[in-house]
Amino acid sequence: MQGSANLNLMIKAARRAGRSLVKDFREVENLQVSMKGAGDFVSRADREAERIIKEDLRGARPSYGWLGEETGEEKGEDPTRRWIVDPLDGTTNFLHGLPHWAVSIALEHKGEIIAGVIFDPAKDEMFVAEKGQGAFMNDTRLRVSGRRNMIEAIFATGVPFGGRSTLPATLKDLARLMPMCAGVRRWGAAALDLAYVAAGRYDGFWERGLHPWDIAAGLVLVREAGGFVAPVRDGQGIFDSGALIAGNAELFKPFCAVLREGD
Ligand code: IPD
Repeated sequence: MQGSANLNLMIKAARRAGRSLVKDFREVENLQVSMKGAGDFVSRADREAERIIKEDLRGARPSYGWLGEETGEEKGEDPTRRWIVDPLDGTTNFLHGLPHWAVSIALEHKGEIIAGVIFDPAKDEMFVAEKGQGAFMNDTRLRVSGRRNMIEAIFATGVPFGGRSTLPATLKDLARLMPMCAGVRRWGAAALDLAYVAAGRYDGFWERGLHPWDIAAGLVLVREAGGFVAPVRDGQGIFDSGALIAGNAELFKPFCAVLREGD
């Protein structure tokens, strides 16, 4: 894919942050004996990855705004453009030595996500998309799945942890959905869940209680791969509500219907 200058910048930043995270990931296993030690170490790794991405992106485009999981929001001179960044999506996996986490970088223009990069360094999978240019993984074009029957479909979600208020609604979703599909996966990295919908690995994904940096890059990936995204509750904003449904074209309607039934 012949990406724009901005996309190439995002890819480079994701790779550099990915290299730093891979080095830290190798250390994490040694630190498991002391959970506190490992937790602090991972927070540092996370912050360092955001520092690297910010240095690259804001260094090259100082006028753009910024929204990062670790450093929050900074307005730019150009109010129409901002980077939305999760330096380490799947932090709990990283902390536990599970190789399923990613760097997620999106570019927003006038409220719309126009480019997204999700990099999984452990598997060396680079998912990228730009509005109107299609979605790719390591140069292979992505298409959402073509499955038409709910009973053959695999969906992904995030099950709220640590006493989050969205747990009861999610458990009800699962009770309605699980009997009518081939399975529900919960792998712990929302950015990768969306990248996998774009790649046709999952037929759909939904989750409540997400932040813009968890999902921004994934939105453009799914759309550019021919899929659909919508808020769980019709009429709400995806970022405002943090509750998102994504899916292939064939199953999107019935999938939304099941999830909205109990909302
Ligand atoms: C988390 C992951 C997880 C999702 C959580 C997110 P983080 O992001 O995406 O899959 O269930 O809601 O907060 O904290 O690892 O960047």
